[in-house]
Amino acid sequence: MLSSSSSFYSVLLVLLLCLHSSDAAAAKIGQGYRLVSIEETPDGGIVGLLQVKQKNQIYGSDITNLQIYVKHETEDRLRVHITDADKQRWEIPYNLLPREQPPAMKLTISKSRKDGGGSLQVSDYSSNELIFSYTADPFSFMVKRKSNGDILFNSKSDKSDPFGEMVFKDQYIEISTKLPKDASLYGLGENTQPHGIKLYPNDPYTLYTTDVSAINLNTDLYGSHPVYMDLRNVGGQPNAHAVLLLNSNGMDVFYTGTSLTYKIIGGVLDFYFFAGPTPLAVVDQYTAFIGRPAPMPYWSLGFHQCRWGYHNLSVVEDVVANYQKAQIPLDVIWNDDDHMDGHKDFTLNPNNYPRPKLLAFLDKIHSMGMKYIVIIDPGIAVNSSYGVYQRAIANDVFIKYEGEPYLAQVWPGAVNFPDFLNPKTVQWWGDEIRRFHELVPVNGLWIDMNEASNFCSGLCKIPKGKQCPTGSGPGWVCCLDCKNITNTRWDDPPYKINASGTQVPIGFKTIATSAYHYNGVLEYDAHSLYGFSQSIATHQALQGLEGKRPFILSRSTFVGSGKYAAHWTGDNKGTWEDLKYSVSTMLNFGIFGVPMVGSDICGFYPAPTEELCNRWIEVGAFYPFSRDHANFYSPRQELYQWESVAESARNALGMRYKLLPHLYTLNFEAHSTGAPIARPLFFTFSNYTDCYGLSTQFLLGSSIMVSPVLEQGKTNVKALFPPGTWYNLFDMSQMIMSKEGKYVTLDAPLHVVNVHLYQNTILPIQQGGLISKEARKTPFTLIVTFPAAASDGQAKGNLFLDDDELPEMKLGNGYSTYVDFYATVSKGTVKVWSEVQEGKYALDQGLIVEKITVLGLDGSAQAATLEVNGNKVDDASKIQISAAEQKHLDEVEDGAHKQK
Ligand code: NOJ
Repeated sequence: MLSSSSSFYSVLLVLLLCLHSSDAAAAKIGQGYRLVSIEETPDGGIVGLLQVKQKNQIYGSDITNLQIYVKHETEDRLRVHITDADKQRWEIPYNLLPREQPPAMKLTISKSRKDGGGSLQVSDYSSNELIFSYTADPFSFMVKRKSNGDILFNSKSDKSDPFGEMVFKDQYIEISTKLPKDASLYGLGENTQPHGIKLYPNDPYTLYTTDVSAINLNTDLYGSHPVYMDLRNVGGQPNAHAVLLLNSNGMDVFYTGTSLTYKIIGGVLDFYFFAGPTPLAVVDQYTAFIGRPAPMPYWSLGFHQCRWGYHNLSVVEDVVANYQKAQIPLDVIWNDDDHMDGHKDFTLNPNNYPRPKLLAFLDKIHSMGMKYIVIIDPGIAVNSSYGVYQRAIANDVFIKYEGEPYLAQVWPGAVNFPDFLNPKTVQWWGDEIRRFHELVPVNGLWIDMNEASNFCSGLCKIPKGKQCPTGSGPGWVCCLDCKNITNTRWDDPPYKINASGTQVPIGFKTIATSAYHYNGVLEYDAHSLYGFSQSIATHQALQGLEGKRPFILSRSTFVGSGKYAAHWTGDNKGTWEDLKYSVSTMLNFGIFGVPMVGSDICGFYPAPTEELCNRWIEVGAFYPFSRDHANFYSPRQELYQWESVAESARNALGMRYKLLPHLYTLNFEAHSTGAPIARPLFFTFSNYTDCYGLSTQFLLGSSIMVSPVLEQGKTNVKALFPPGTWYNLFDMSQMIMSKEGKYVTLDAPLHVVNVHLYQNTILPIQQGGLISKEARKTPFTLIVTFPAAASDGQAKGNLFLDDDELPEMKLGNGYSTYVDFYATVSKGTVKVWSEVQEGKYALDQGLIVEKITVLGLDGSAQAATLEVNGNKVDDASKIQISAAEQKHLDEVEDGAHKQK
């Protein structure tokens, strides 16, 4: 017979297990808080005191007093910050992610509030588009859109969707919001999102940076981005807003379809609401807060080839030569850890990558305009004869456990992890990068395994009398004696997030969560900031080196990472499912403020089929970051390995290289306004609700639509065309008119990818080439699109150019070029003109528009070409891309533009 205490524990266990089921959002853990005091702050915000109504011990004891601080930080941003009123709690360091600090105020219970009822002095706080209001007992808050009264966030439960009251314990925080049934939510990653970009009811969204290969489950992956965009169509009027919960601790987010519940294992509630109301306004407001995406060098928009297992330099030379032979564009060649000596960062293998030969190779490719990037892992080999390690120890840069550097294992064997939250580490890291750059003049750095990934879990020791082998090949066998740590509340927290989709301990295959950083910060709290802090340190180091614009690729990311780094989606599989997921992940990262993103083209592992690789390059050629990369054990999959893939690559990358000036302009827009380079269709067509969840097509900028084949054996693709006229970018004689929006089945034989250009656009393209340095010197063509059969119409476009070595990307420095292009057609007359804001770069480079192709005249899809420098229109200078002070107008009579 069970004793009463054991049956009590079984009941508790059942209760705890139930809390992880899909109806976990509905389980009530506490009775919430009561607002007992509220007043205005000197900075124009409000601050209030909340008291717990009744404590319990589920997941630990409730915090007695909470302080809430609410502030309209800008016209379109509202902050709601809730923390322990009596004790400082962990928050993301303010120097890492710069933002305002809540004022230090100590509230006491106001007399008027002792009864917990009655109306409060400040009940409606509404100086901007977002109105904050609350109920006092139990405390809940609401955020409403002023212009239409729509409730965006409401933590008050009701009978229609019962969720628990707010819970705030040391290691468990819970808060929910009601949502309308027709909301479409996007974001909350990094996740596989097998159901596409729109959050899918009852799918788990767990945020905790983890080295897990993308799998079909919606599991937590390498990055953590606790932000979602909510796009609603209220009365035919689309409105978008975003909600960021700025918290670095592990969390589960449950979305039921009508509510969303956060379950977080530490930190504070720090909500930011961004009013939108368009998707572009949302990302503008979001990136104004978290940091604008980094400017990327022009060459980084070219094609990249990488692989794990380029055993020696000759193989790399051979790859470059084969790309040239196959006439496939290539800008950047990469090394995984094969160039290293014993997998040690910042070293060269003297036999396989002898320095003099490597330098000669780099001289050669650099003179052609090609670039070279290598990997660095954060784990520093524990090896007393290794200079990097010696200097690290001398500078005391590592994460600690019980006073000693925390011991882990990655590729070189036993390693310690640098603590990038420590300013001394940042300095040491910068110095190591400088030393390495003197050894090998790399053009960018790839920071991998920075979740951080560890082959062991827990507390590890080098076995007595043994050394960890540095191994020549990859292996996941742990050489260290490791024992799981379960005796601390950090390693075994009371609430288990759904880590890796299986609730593994949160220290599984990473740094023990009871290890600690600079100033005693626990790994438990800072875990998901590891890759982010490494990106900042690496960016600082590269920028300081030659003053050039850095290029960094990071696997792990957090809120704000886009300011420093590009991202690839990690170890995907060479499967059709993963090809499809790559589109959703790419689109999510655009929303996360990391627009330079792509997946391993053809898949990381296992071997892709020839057909899949054909289709993958047809999608990957339009990823903002376009790189073929493969695993050590996979067979070779460079694009020239199959003739059919080479043909698809020449076709798709051929188009990419013509579009480079447009991609670069999008890069500039991303840097100035946060606009994603690759975007879901709803960014342009937010009135057209049919496209809201669409995850199989995407836009580059506002007007180029890519509709790839994502399924095996298909030679056509069913693509959605939002209302308007669309022109095939490869074959401009084909157009699609879609009056109210429709699906169209398009031919897509193996070498064909469908890319369409929308009406009312002026797209500047160049002639392409095999390397971006050469392609960007070629003359421009402007493609002008009007709606089909329109006798009247307008079109516009723009172009940004600069020297991509400049650290900053901006106007007003006297070196850049920014042009707006305009066109109208009216009564048979086409006018095209430009407004040049700045023209120095184009002028210096002698760049010209040689041709204008006008599509859509007289209802015909036929291209009407106005030759400019080619003389059919004799005054070439009228379409300016380089005159800073003039505004030119070009008028062409109907007869002229028809001749071809
Ligand atoms: C894991 C990375 O995700 C992968 O891209 C890389 O090839 C391996 N580490 C080896 O460095």
